[in-house]
Amino acid sequence: MIKIAPSILAADFARLGEDIRSIAAADYLHFDVMDGLFVPNISVGIPVLQSVRKFTDMTLDVHLMIDRPLRYVEQFAAAGADIINCHIEADTEENTLAALKRIRELGKVPAVTVKPKTAAEALEPYYELCGLVLIMTVEPGFGGQSFMADIMPKVAAARDYIERHGLACEVEVDGGINPVTAVTAVNAGANVLVAGSDVFKAADRAARIAQLRNAK
Ligand code: DX5
Ligand code: ZN
Repeated sequence: MIKIAPSILAADFARLGEDIRSIAAADYLHFDVMDGLFVPNISVGIPVLQSVRKFTDMTLDVHLMIDRPLRYVEQFAAAGADIINCHIEADTEENTLAALKRIRELGKVPAVTVKPKTAAEALEPYYELCGLVLIMTVEPGFGGQSFMADIMPKVAAARDYIERHGLACEVEVDGGINPVTAVTAVNAGANVLVAGSDVFKAADRAARIAQLRNAK
């Protein structure tokens, strides 16, 4: 089954509760954290996550676009994250592996994320420890960018690796997803689609989520 993860980055932060309620039909709530260092933008962090956690039972898919995420995984787990995504470009392999193990020990789902220029093979040391891999289909930092179709071979390589090794790991894509690009991503092997602007700009958000979920 295809899962849809609306990104709160496209929500109205002054009406966040209402916006979350409007996408309750989705599978995950994608929570984008930016530190102004790993990416050239700053978004939201731990206090907002705590408030969101109190407000909804949705699975919170936290995308850490921060430098050396190992420093913060405990705080994000305590604040209510369910899935915690760490960029492999944000630290050494040793520290990324340590972060994933710590996330697992805390009872949360460990995940790694790769930027568009990072090769598919760079994910290989991490699959066994992850419940999900997140493949960026835009440069991280901003919503509303165009989907990079040339990333699809990396999505296919991830799906192929997971199947060949019999792993239970989801493949998520993030950036520029709409009803057209959703089909491309699903055909390449993605099963979780992050969608920010496309869902939040839709007049009927529940209908848009259903439409994206049926992409094939
Ligand atoms: C970008 C974020 C995305 C973003 C997606 O750095 O990771 O989650 O909100 O936005 P859209 O769907 O508008 O491309
Ligand atoms: Zn994201």
